[in-house]
Amino acid sequence: MIRKKYTAVETWIWDNLQPEESNSAAQTYDAMIWQAEGKLPVINQPLNLRDPAHFADEARIREYLVQIKGAEEVLDIGPGDGWPALRIAPHVRMVTGIDASLRRVEVSRSNAERLKIDNVKFAKMSAVELDFADKSFDAVVAASSIEQTPNPIQALQEAFRVLKPGGGFSVDFESFDVTRQEPLSEAVSLLEHPDGVLGWHYRMKHRDPPWERDYLVKLKPVPETAEAFKKARELIAQAGDNPTTVREIGVEFLEANKTGVQASSYYELEHFTTQTMIESLEDVGFTDVRTVYSAARLARLIFPALSTSQMSDEQLTELAQALAEIAASLPAPLDQGQPVVATKPKLSS
Ligand SMILES: C[S@@+](CC[C@H](N)C(=O)[O-])C[C@H]1O[C@@H](n2cnc3c(N)ncnc32)[C@H](O)[C@@H]1O
Repeated sequence: MIRKKYTAVETWIWDNLQPEESNSAAQTYDAMIWQAEGKLPVINQPLNLRDPAHFADEARIREYLVQIKGAEEVLDIGPGDGWPALRIAPHVRMVTGIDASLRRVEVSRSNAERLKIDNVKFAKMSAVELDFADKSFDAVVAASSIEQTPNPIQALQEAFRVLKPGGGFSVDFESFDVTRQEPLSEAVSLLEHPDGVLGWHYRMKHRDPPWERDYLVKLKPVPETAEAFKKARELIAQAGDNPTTVREIGVEFLEANKTGVQASSYYELEHFTTQTMIESLEDVGFTDVRTVYSAARLARLIFPALSTSQMSDEQLTELAQALAEIAASLPAPLDQGQPVVATKPKLSS
């Protein structure tokens, strides 16, 4: 077992504050007003297939629809602001979205109401303890959420339990490419929370083995801390978000604002590589476990070569559909965090 190192910033936090143990839903996702900056196609903005991000999103949604073909009852684990639950709902009988963050559940519900989608329900629930009977769903999807839970293996076991035999599971997860990036990365972000509190967020990611630790230091929203926040934001925009190279946003920032600290917390996440995701799914009992291409990735690759101005919306939609079908059946390399699909065996209990 490799000993987990503490960075200078973490050492300062542990020496000076007593951070409480938390989890990603409470510490990170409850603190965000919107996810994806409120720019999700269809959910937050009208679909514009000439925008490369929208075209990629459309292709990925169509890939989900290929993967869950024939499913009537679908579970979306960790939908955030309703993705992909709200995009899948028009094509199936019912989608249930569960998220451990109450704020995300509320935002998903209000998005559903605004979009007038009524065959979707959202509930606050943790993926590690699903409040559903065995064999409740024809398909389960999870987009960048399993690795955000306190116990990813238990979340996979729960997904398996609530699936009907023969049902499919499609899981996207954050790519931790262990071969390419620096051994350790750090980033500070500054967030004004919905309740007005100023949140200094710190994330440290360890590449191999892949795990991360996240801290939140909450500061009283008084004029002095608001001013310090403004300056630190400007510094991040100019010099970057790494507190080891930009000490004024890291240890020096914390030292200077120590008296304004209201509370602090942390959590740790275990991440997957494609290989460990495949092995974990097989251990849980899934069969036909394989990694496939992401249609979104294929869409981003070919988009620059398209002269979209000369293509009709209909042609772009057909192209997104074709990419979805190719991607869903194309085995992908193991090292790039591509979606993994799996099936619950027909004869399992
Ligand atoms: C990176 S976001 C992904 C959101 C959405 N699926 C998307 O792709 O835009 C991760 C989501 O997982 C949720 N989450 C964290 N812990 C969870 C848990 N224990 N059970 C269910 N969802 C959880 C978070 O609240 C958040 O909404």
